[in-house]
Formats: sequence, structure tokens, C-alpha cells
Amino acid sequence: MIRAQHLSKSYETPGETVEVLKDLSLDLDDGATAAIIGPSGCGKTTLLNLLGALDRPTAGSIEIGDIDIAQLSESDAAAFRNHRLGFVFQQHHLLPQLNVLENVMVPRLAGDWEEPATDTQHRAMELLVKVGLQDRLHHLPWQLSGGEKLRTAVARALINRPKLILADEPTGSLDPASTDQVADLLLELNRNEGVTLLVVTHNHELAHRMSKTFELKAGQLHPAGH
Ligand SMILES: Nc1ncnc2c1ncn2[C@@H]1O[C@H](COP(=O)(O)OP(=O)(O)OP(=O)(O)O)[C@@H](O)[C@H]1O
Ligand SMILES: [Mg+2]
Repeated sequence: MIRAQHLSKSYETPGETVEVLKDLSLDLDDGATAAIIGPSGCGKTTLLNLLGALDRPTAGSIEIGDIDIAQLSESDAAAFRNHRLGFVFQQHHLLPQLNVLENVMVPRLAGDWEEPATDTQHRAMELLVKVGLQDRLHHLPWQLSGGEKLRTAVARALINRPKLILADEPTGSLDPASTDQVADLLLELNRNEGVTLLVVTHNHELAHRMSKTFELKAGQLHPAGH
């Protein structure tokens, strides 16, 4: 499902080049679940952005399914993200002028999906019930707590029934009960729909629930014991 080889990423800043990922490799089977852990600043978000075709590597290749995503044009990368991928951002990026229900429906309405709006709304409500937000459907993002915004972002990532979910701290600001709820939802999708899960987290309980854990260290991934 995911095969990254010789992956490197550097950022150019005035006066210096920051080398974040160095000859990294990653192999993840279809339907696998994995966690990535590592200290702040080690490059976890950088890696997810590459795997999600939001940014390009300095060197190396990334195959997702049978697509080499490092080679995609901007518009093909956008279509790839819309059709194949559910991305939960560390900064959740909800649209401020839309309510919870509308935010969750956005990816479905933005793409070239052909589906009656009522079906989209039905799926959005179903997901919002699963993350415990059935009583917040018409709230705007500024009226939500941090954890509610995060759970909205998780529901939004799932609306297109992605085959791959990349989640950057999906339980970052959640209490233990909501953490369990989000983990349950992600793992249920893995079990029932064969969705592949790659989760960046500082939360050891969430990491434990994935079948593998990698530690990102000195720009490379190393298998980490649970
Ligand atoms: N656009 C950028 N330009 C320059 N440097 C960057 C850029 N984005 C990230 N960096 C640097 O790359 C390193 C890795 O950043 P990244 O966001 O991937 O870390 P992270 O592991 O996700 O950290 P956290 O756990 O705090 O979210 C950091 O040192 C950061 O300062
Ligand atoms: Mg990060």
C-alpha cells in the first residue's frame, strides 16, 4: 500500500538547509495499522505531508497503491488526495464560516463525486454520531472546544471512504474517553472496510492499539517495541 524508498526532505531557510528526513524507507501493507512516534521537531508532520502528496520530497520515491505520488502534477495530486486519502491535520483547518455538519461534507462537495446531497449529509451525520458530536451539528468552529474541532476534523477525513488514513495527532487535545472514541472509530474502519491506518501520536495508548510502531529518529524510521 505504502512504499517509500530513499526518501529525503530538506527545508531551505535563509542561511541554512534543514535536513529533516534522510534516506528514510517505509513499507506498509494494505490494511495495516501503524503508529509513528518521536519527539517534537523530528519530522513526523513532514513525513505525513509527503505521504499525503501535500509536499514533495527532496529525493526518493513514494508509491501509494500503484501510484508514484512524487511524480504527480498538482491537479493529479489534488485528485489523489480527494479520492484515496483521509488526512487528519495536526492543525485541523476547519472552515470558519461553515458549521460542523457542513465542514464534514466539504470534501464530498468539492470533488467530482456524483451523489445526492442527502446521501452525503446522511453519511456526515453517521460519522458525527460516531465521534459524539450529534448535538453540535450547527455550531461554528469558534463555538467548539479544541477536542470537538479535532473530532470534526476526524469525521471530515472519513467522509470520502478513503482507503488510506494519515492522521497527525488525531487525539492530541482529547480526554481519555474521546481518545478511545476516535481510536475505536479508526480501528473499526480498519477492520470493517480494510482501511490502512498510519497515525502520528505522542499518546502511547493509541500507539499500542496499532499493530506496529515506528520511531522517527535522525531522519529515519526504526521499529519500536510496544
Ligand atoms: N516549511 C518549513 N521550513 C523550514 N523548516 C521547517 C518547515 N517545516 C518544518 N520545518 C522544520 O522541520 C523540522 C520537523 O518539523 P515537523 O513539523 O515535521 O516536526 P514534528 O515531528 O511533526 O513535530 P511536532 O511533534 O512538534 O508536531 C522542525 O525542526 C521544523 O522546524
Ligand atoms: Mg507535527
